[in-house]
Amino acid sequence: MIQSPRGTQDILPDTWPAWRRIFEAATRVAEGAGYARIELPMFESTSLFTHATGEHTDVNREMYTFEDRGGDQLSLRPEGTASVFRAYFQHGMKVRPQPVRLYYMGSMFRYERPQKGRFREHRQFGCEAIGSSDALVDASLLALQGRFYRAVGIANAKATVNSIGDENCRPAYLVDLVAYLRLHEDELCGQCRERIERNPLRVLDCKVPGCQPVLNAAPRILDRLCDPCRLHWDRFVEGLRALDTPFEINPRLVRGLDYYTRTVWEFLPDEPGGAQAVLGGGGRYDALAQAIGAPPVPGVGFSTGLERVLLNLQSEMNGDPPGKIDVFIASVGAEAELQALAIAGQLWDAGIPADMGFDNRSLGAQLKQADARGAKIAVIIGETELEQHAALVKNLTTGDQQQAAIASILTTIRESVSASQPST
Ligand code: HAM
Repeated sequence: MIQSPRGTQDILPDTWPAWRRIFEAATRVAEGAGYARIELPMFESTSLFTHATGEHTDVNREMYTFEDRGGDQLSLRPEGTASVFRAYFQHGMKVRPQPVRLYYMGSMFRYERPQKGRFREHRQFGCEAIGSSDALVDASLLALQGRFYRAVGIANAKATVNSIGDENCRPAYLVDLVAYLRLHEDELCGQCRERIERNPLRVLDCKVPGCQPVLNAAPRILDRLCDPCRLHWDRFVEGLRALDTPFEINPRLVRGLDYYTRTVWEFLPDEPGGAQAVLGGGGRYDALAQAIGAPPVPGVGFSTGLERVLLNLQSEMNGDPPGKIDVFIASVGAEAELQALAIAGQLWDAGIPADMGFDNRSLGAQLKQADARGAKIAVIIGETELEQHAALVKNLTTGDQQQAAIASILTTIRESVSASQPST
């Protein structure tokens, strides 16, 4: 049999309650802070992503790129920020009150080596604020991300923050960093050595134990910020304190995309020991507009991987059975089955979650199904009930049952359903 492609996964009904909780928490938290939903295409012109994310980044190398039948060069989106930015310009959002605040949820595609928490199709929730240079917007977004983790049930996600400067102070810092790394090349792993020229900032991100002493002693960009970047950083930190948002400074924190300037951050799950997969990250990207050939507009945002959020939730999800209903209608015989269908139709129209037995199963088998689906009420139509134009309405928790006329069955069922709700 054909299987799903490596690195993709089906969301099956038993994990849907957890997914729904994630989607609902994201919507509530984002909209609660004035972010409006944007839906973006699954694919865009390849050049949008190459220019936005940077030519030498992993994200760029891992793109699913293809030529369509019309000869256009397209890529499945590896991330959402570039598309939000494109949409901002394409739809003239510069004339709206700034910053324009947008949020999105959906699949992203990266040709990565699949492992725990790393997929070729993953889902992200992201928020972007475009059109403000104010460092307090950075702080508000970091706090929003933390609020989302708490809302969804991850109490202890830890924020780590850094500044990576801008086009004024970063070049001089990089000269010093490269000189330092070259001096210690022999003490670094193969990947670090390879990155020294191509993407020296990313060397700081290496997790190989042998590289740590050299990298911990490397020059820090936080000590080399120009005055405007320093002011921005101080204000950002002030903002986090005003929001009472805990954070740790990690002077080695860099991100895997080239568009960041100044503020960067990541959230880690607070797991003792073990490799910690980053829950999500963000930062300011004031240089992105220029990279995609647009007029200068500042922006800041974050996104979080939702499969990683789910991994941190699973232990505490013990929700309803998949396809949970309130009412199950069991019947015996072809004519009674038709009567059951008519009642089911009335319940569906009335918005009462309901289902019924099909395929002539025994009454016992149908009642087992009712139980497995979490039904509180069973409606039973046997030969006797059919003759009497009636049905048995049974409370499956207490065992109480009553006969009800078909003519008024909806009212009886509705009363039984509300009587079976736990009183709060
Ligand atoms: P990113 O760090 O590349 O940033 O991805 C954001 C999050 O997506 C990661 O922290 C991780 O949770 C999740 N993620 C990434 N790749 C995978 C994967 N292969 N499998 C599972 N989860 C994954 C961005 O994408 C930026 N657009 C974030 C941003 C928004 N910055 C500013 N605004």
